[in-house]
Amino acid sequence: MTARSPIRWLTGAAALLVFAVGSPDAARAEAEDGRIIAERWCASCHLVGPGQDVASDQVPTFMQIAGDYDLDADELRRFLQMPHPPMPDMQLTHREIRSLIAYIDSLAP
Ligand code: HEC
Repeated sequence: MTARSPIRWLTGAAALLVFAVGSPDAARAEAEDGRIIAERWCASCHLVGPGQDVASDQVPTFMQIAGDYDLDADELRRFLQMPHPPMPDMQLTHREIRSLIAYIDSLAP
């Protein structure tokens, strides 16, 4: 067959719709991505989750950040877009920032 089949097209459109509208599963997957990014890039300084027990004690934990920001995602996004020493400029993509925020959100008390 040469043309794309309508079934495949419809499946694609449905997937896009679910993505655009958002679903609890998508939010959970996003937070899970954020956890992986946090463990890779943030855990050398921050305590990023309940499974971790060594981090710098000069640095707020992600649980504290989740509490402090009180789910103000805009503030968190702005913060993550600009580097501040001693935090290295990690050049996070928008997607990574969204995932990190979803993850931090999920830690809020
Ligand atoms: C090299 C150490 C280091 C790394 C790596 C690091 N941070 Fe930080 N971070 C700090 C320090 C130190 C502070 C507190 C100083 C400050 O607020 O200016 C901080 C503060 C923060 C704050 C603000 C907390 C507040 O209450 O103002 C957020 C949010 C944050 N980090 C997120 C992250 C994320 C997300 C990552 C991983 C992508 C990360 N950090 C990686 C050292 C680090």
